[in-house]
Amino acid sequence: MVERPGKNYISERAMHTQDLSLFSGTASHELTAALARNLGHRVSPSGVERFPDGELSVHLDEAVRGRHVFIVQSLCPPVTENLFELLLFVDACRRAAAARITAVVPYLGYARADKRHGLREPITASLVATLLQAAGLDHLVTVDLHAAQIEGFYHLPVDNLSAVSLMCDELKHRLSPGTVVVSPDAGRVATAGDYARRLDATVAVLQKQRQTGAETKVLKVIGDVRDRPCLIIDDMITTGGTIAHAVTALLDAGARPDIMVAATHGVLVAGARERLRHPAVREVVVTDTIARPPSDSSQPTVVSLAPLLARAIRHLANAESISDLFR
Ligand code: R5P
Repeated sequence: MVERPGKNYISERAMHTQDLSLFSGTASHELTAALARNLGHRVSPSGVERFPDGELSVHLDEAVRGRHVFIVQSLCPPVTENLFELLLFVDACRRAAAARITAVVPYLGYARADKRHGLREPITASLVATLLQAAGLDHLVTVDLHAAQIEGFYHLPVDNLSAVSLMCDELKHRLSPGTVVVSPDAGRVATAGDYARRLDATVAVLQKQRQTGAETKVLKVIGDVRDRPCLIIDDMITTGGTIAHAVTALLDAGARPDIMVAATHGVLVAGARERLRHPAVREVVVTDTIARPPSDSSQPTVVSLAPLLARAIRHLANAESISDLFR
C-alpha cells in the first residue's frame, strides 16, 4: 500500500456540493468550464507556471482546507507534462489539507501500457497509478478506459464511466438503416456489443494484428458486412491507422461506402486527420475528453461529456451512488 502522509488528521465526513472545489488542469479548461456550467458551480482559480529551466509549478489561488476537491485533467499530449501537472495539483491539495481529492481524468493516457510485451519493459499504466496514489489521490473518475482491468492498478475507488450512451444519442438519427457496428479488434467487442444493443444493430469484428506502435494490419473480417453501411467504434483514435485499415478491410469485404466512425477519445496526432479522410467515411464522431485546437478546420463531430461528468461529480460530492451513470 502507498502511504499517504497528511491524511490521518483529516476526518472523513459526508460531503455536499457546496463543499466541493473544482480545479482545471491546462489540458481540460474547456471541458471543465462546460462541466462547471452543468454543475452550477464555479471553477476555482489556480495557476500553472513554467520556470526558465523548464520546471513546472502549480498554485491553488483559494483555500481547500476540509473541502472535497475535484481536479479535471486529461492525460492527452503532451501526456507526461499533463500527468506531472496533475501530480502537482494533487500534492498541492493534500498539503493544503483538502479532505478528499478526486481526479477527473476524462482521458487516461498511458493506459495502453498495461502489460509487458517483452523483457525489460515497464508497465507504465501501473506506474501512473502508483504516482497518483503516492501524491495523495483518493478517488479516480475516468471515461472508457482502454482496458477495464487497469482499475486493478489502483488501491482506491475508480469510476470508469462510459460515453457510449451519449454517443448513441448523437448517432442514432444519423446512421443509415441496416448499419453494422464494427469492432476494429478483439479488445473492443464488448463495447461494440453495447453500441449494437443501444442502436438495435448487429456486430462484426476485425481481426487486427499490431505490427508496431503506429502500424496495424487487418487479417480478417468476422461477420456479415456485404452491402451494409458500417459504424466503426473504438475507444481512441491516435494515428488513425486502426480506422484507416478497418475502412479498407470493410470495403474489401463488400461493405457499402457509407461508413461512420465513433471513438470516445480523439487523440488525433499529426497525420491522423489525413488518414481518416476517405470518400467512404461519412463522419467521424469523438467526445470532448480531449480539446480540439480551435484552428482545426477538419473538426470531427464532438459529443460533450460535460453533462455526464457533472452528474458524476454531483453524486460523488453528495456521497450518492453513481451506478445509474453506467447504464
Ligand atoms: C488499440 O488497442 C486501441 O483500442 C485503438 O484501436 C488504437 O489505440 C488506436 O490507435 P491508432 O489510431 O494509432 O491506430
